[in-house]
Amino acid sequence: MKRAAWGLAALIGAWGLGGVFVTEGARATGGAPAVTAAPASGSTATTAAAAPARAAACAACHGADGRSNLALSPTLAAQPRVFLENTLILIREGLRPVAAMKGLLDGVDDAEIIALADHFSRQPIKPESTPRDDAAFERGRTLASRALCGTCHLPNYAGQQQMPRLAGQREDYLVHSMREFRDNLAQGRDTQMNGVLRGFSDRDLGDLAHYFAQLR
Ligand code: HEC
Ligand code: HEC
Repeated sequence: MKRAAWGLAALIGAWGLGGVFVTEGARATGGAPAVTAAPASGSTATTAAAAPARAAACAACHGADGRSNLALSPTLAAQPRVFLENTLILIREGLRPVAAMKGLLDGVDDAEIIALADHFSRQPIKPESTPRDDAAFERGRTLASRALCGTCHLPNYAGQQQMPRLAGQREDYLVHSMREFRDNLAQGRDTQMNGVLRGFSDRDLGDLAHYFAQLR
């Protein structure tokens, strides 16, 4: 609990300094208590196994166990825990505005945020069921490789730390979020994406989204 409170202070502090987010490493060396959310003891292991009660409130939009079937609602399954923790805190604090989630996290304490992040990060991603367009897939692969997206999101696009998973994310949500970054409409999001998509056409973003969505 301490760790999240410290993380929040660091997050908001870092925000003021230009949005450079804390990472696990920074937390470990930054004087935070040496607590990890990974179940280190028997008691946390048992709570981590059961879905937190509040996860049921997410299912309507993010799907059972975080695998979304709803247009423009992202899949949360298999996202890096740090990305989910940071994002949920930003949404709760109103720093990242998500209209559909307004008020939903009011009063949700850090312990619950950690439990939710931990829960969704452990859920397996569902295989994409839409058919693959080979030409778009190859074009997306080339664009992603040239733009070095994998340096942050990892070469298999599974994400790490505060960098979200792109592999297996809903295609429509990827298009939506990339457009917001490109057009400088993304509010309350990590500034590392600023400029990354400058000059990309709508078709480029569509091909990138198709490629990522088809990956496992
Ligand atoms: C009424 C629908 C709705 C409910 C209920 C809801 N969400 Fe969301 N959530 C959304 C939408 C829509 C977005 C995408 C916002 C955007 O970026 O445009 C989102 C975004 C997110 C994101 C950011 C994901 C990313 O990849 O950027 C996280 C994390 C999240 N929600 C977690 C939760 C959790 C945890 C709950 C339950 C406590 C929850 N949401 C309940 C609709 C909902
Ligand atoms: C310097 C590191 C870095 C590079 C390079 C980078 N990203 Fe990101 N990306 C991030 C971070 C950090 C976030 C999290 C933003 C947030 O939620 O505040 C992110 C978020 C995203 C998201 C939102 C996903 C979600 O679930 O909300 C998409 C889509 C994305 N990046 C695509 C790309 C693509 C495509 C490229 C290459 C053209 C790329 N990124 C290159 C760091 C990077």
